[in-house]
Amino acid sequence: MGGRILILILGFWIGGALLGARSGEGSSLGIGPQPPNQCVNCHQGITTPLELSQRYYDWHLSVHKERDVACDVCHGGDSQARTAQEAHRGVFPPSNERSRVHGKNQAETCGACHPEVRAAYVASAHHVKLSSAGLGPFCSTCHLNMANSTVRSAADIGALCSRCHGAEGGLLPPSPQLLKSAQETLLSLSRANGVLIWASRLIEAAQEKRLDVAGDVQDLEAARRLLAEAKWEWHAFRFEPVRAKADRAFEQGTTVKDRLMRKVYPGLRQ
Ligand code: HEC
Ligand code: HEC
Ligand code: HEC
Ligand code: HEC
Ligand code: HEC
Repeated sequence: MGGRILILILGFWIGGALLGARSGEGSSLGIGPQPPNQCVNCHQGITTPLELSQRYYDWHLSVHKERDVACDVCHGGDSQARTAQEAHRGVFPPSNERSRVHGKNQAETCGACHPEVRAAYVASAHHVKLSSAGLGPFCSTCHLNMANSTVRSAADIGALCSRCHGAEGGLLPPSPQLLKSAQETLLSLSRANGVLIWASRLIEAAQEKRLDVAGDVQDLEAARRLLAEAKWEWHAFRFEPVRAKADRAFEQGTTVKDRLMRKVYPGLRQ
């Protein structure tokens, strides 16, 4: 009897410790459990106006929410203040040049956590034109509000680039060649992404069968690294080197994928 109670208590204690560990682990910044963030607390209860309310959900479904990057990290302000007025000190509408999320300030604000992307982007014609004339796309032009949309299809990106590079009488002379190489580059990034996902699923299947995949894991990691670099370098908007890297990631990924297919499904004809 006493033993059972002890086990129960132990169970709760261990369960509690695990829960604690999990909520700490959720913090991408590695600072452990945080006091409640008042920006999030208050904004999640706002139901009107519609535009403001929807912004909360943009963030709620974003990878930044998953990684504990809260409102104040991008917008500024005081995340511990309980009134809107106090909390909003230092928060400005994005159209205001003092806002941390104003187009011209995004390279700095977002670049603090995405330094490789920032390095490529600030070297691009886009950043040059943005700083000098206020023209040219910035991070949220392509990634939307809270970076809740990343992987755009080649067709979407074509439409996006066309806003400035495609239209007759638009901002810049129409450039079908530029659009074509942008779309091809994106297709090759997306294809590489696809084969790497396929390979990582095969690794899981192989591990379930207790096969030795140490070498495959290593090769897959190398291909992933190549693809990540290609995605960073894309932001310089010089396409040939990006395309070349993405194709290499695809080839390496395909080699790993084929090898794993033979291991996991030895009976299958290739
Ligand atoms: C007590 C509730 C409350 C808190 C706390 C709060 N907000 Fe707000 N926020 C609002 C309301 C209400 C609005 C819309 C009216 C306004 O602008 O004051 C708003 C508007 C905003 C806007 C749009 C501003 C604009 O003019 O375009 C942003 C951005 C924003 N909040 C970010 C934040 C951030 C970042 C924090 C934390 C540092 C925060 N809020 C904390 C209630 C709150
Ligand atoms: C990763 C950075 C990031 C995070 C985190 C983030 N935002 Fe934003 N937010 C932006 C950017 C960039 C814009 C401007 C882009 C645009 O105009 O669509 C923006 C726009 C907004 C706007 C529109 C303001 C206006 O006047 O048009 C509101 C409101 C807002 N955010 C609220 C929030 C709230 C509330 C949170 C937390 C629940 C949050 N944001 C978290 C980057 C972020
Ligand atoms: C406090 C650090 C931080 C800031 C500031 C930040 N991010 Fe992120 N971002 C992250 C983390 C962590 C991830 C998830 C891991 C990764 O992909 O690097 C991420 C992921 C992303 C992704 C990939 C999304 C996906 O679905 O895979 C994009 C795009 C992105 N961020 C854009 C932005 C933009 C644009 C801004 C500025 C408006 C911004 N980030 C500001 C930390 C940050
Ligand atoms: C002109 C459009 C454009 C602009 C401007 C832009 N990006 Fe991107 N970004 C993309 C595309 C397209 C991808 C590749 C998406 C894919 O295939 O996953 C990407 C990929 C990323 C990734 C990697 C996501 C992943 O899946 O690993 C991050 C992080 C990121 N961008 C952040 C930023 C930041 C920060 C800025 C501003 C400094 C920025 N981007 C500006 C279009 C853009
Ligand atoms: C908001 C407008 C805008 C959008 C959207 C836009 N660009 Fe640009 N782009 C510019 C401007 C402005 C320049 C600089 C032109 C100059 O310096 O003469 C530029 C320059 C470039 C250059 C360099 C061209 C050269 O001749 O040096 C490339 C490549 C490019 N953009 C690709 C893209 C791609 C790909 C997209 C879509 C993912 C895109 N742009 C979206 C405005 C835009």
